[in-house]
Amino acid sequence: MSQEGMLREGALKDKVIVITGGGTGLGRAMGSYFLELGAKLAICGRRKEVLEKAASEMMEAHGSEVFTFPCDVRKYDEVEAFRDATLAHYGKVDVLLNNAAGNFISPTERLSPGAFDAVIDIVLKGTKNCTLAFGKNWIQKEEKNKVVLSITTTYAATGSAFVVPSAMAKAGVSAMTRSLAVEWARYGIRFNAIAPGPFPTEGAWSRLLPGDIPDMLKIENQVPLKRAGTMQELANLAAFLVSDFAAYMNGEIVTIDGGEWLLGAGELNFLEAVPDEMWDWIGEATRKGK
Ligand code: HXC
Ligand code: NAP
Repeated sequence: MSQEGMLREGALKDKVIVITGGGTGLGRAMGSYFLELGAKLAICGRRKEVLEKAASEMMEAHGSEVFTFPCDVRKYDEVEAFRDATLAHYGKVDVLLNNAAGNFISPTERLSPGAFDAVIDIVLKGTKNCTLAFGKNWIQKEEKNKVVLSITTTYAATGSAFVVPSAMAKAGVSAMTRSLAVEWARYGIRFNAIAPGPFPTEGAWSRLLPGDIPDMLKIENQVPLKRAGTMQELANLAAFLVSDFAAYMNGEIVTIDGGEWLLGAGELNFLEAVPDEMWDWIGEATRKGK
């Protein structure tokens, strides 16, 4: 497993990258690597103190510049204010990374309409708000070579019990990615997404799966590679997708999950548990004439 950066120094030099939810977890990890590669960041989230602490730590560790702006992506006027403040600060935006999300596990029949909306509004409406606010501005100013990268999940494609609002909302983000990859290509805007499997973050693991649940579930055992992903592995993929090296990638949803979703999908995958000696016997017993 590589903990090393993949791209060469300066690969994102002078790119201004907006990351929603960039003060924590995966957003912060991807942002830190973008800074190392020479990018400047604008990060938003609802909690001002979280953003400011993250920004000062990131700048100290990785150099370059991190602009912060508290913003609730569910509110279009706040997103526009974030965009305008970022433009006033940097003069341009090159990349929008739709990363902010909300989620919790629950049987669906226990959810109130408000609980459903809480997740759908952050993930689907928030992503729509940001994409529209930043995208329209690029189109109106006839700026080209722009990128929208969104973070979905593997269950956006497969569906998943107990995270239904998240699955529905992320599926909508996938549909937006593929639709606008075609429609806004004429404006020089590329759309891609990353569908991560398990990457340990406080937001997704400690909060979504409280207490000892992650240990009890042994999430690593649901992954053929028998481990969770590392922040650097995700950051390498994200850096490539927002860089000019990926200029011909458009409309792609890249899964990075150690094979997790396929393990759940194949009907006979449970045979992974069969030991070698038993395969000898099965080989004999299933040959022609037996
Ligand atoms: C059932 C819940 C609930 C829960 C809140 N609600 N938490 N219902 N189970 N655990 C209900 C409330 O009762 C309320 O219903 C409504 O949802 C809104 O609650 P608020 O607390 O007011 O919402 P809000 O402050 O907007 O917070 C949003 C949130 C919160 C989604 C509920 O968890 C949050 O801010 N999350 C952000 C961080 C996060 O979730 N990160 C994980 C991303 S990981 P009423 O009926 O009163 O309106 C991910 C993929 C993981 O996405 C992949 C798998 C490993
Ligand atoms: P996280 O740390 O909880 O990240 C969520 C971020 O979104 C926080 O910074 C949060 O900040 C921000 N946010 C939430 N609601 C917001 C709102 N209304 N407006 C603005 N910002 C908001 O969790 P994470 O694990 O890093 O998740 C990052 C992304 O990866 C998400 O899209 C998630 O779905 C995806 N993902 C994660 C995993 C995993 O295993 N970690 C797997 C699959 C997909 P505030 O609370 O301060 O607003």
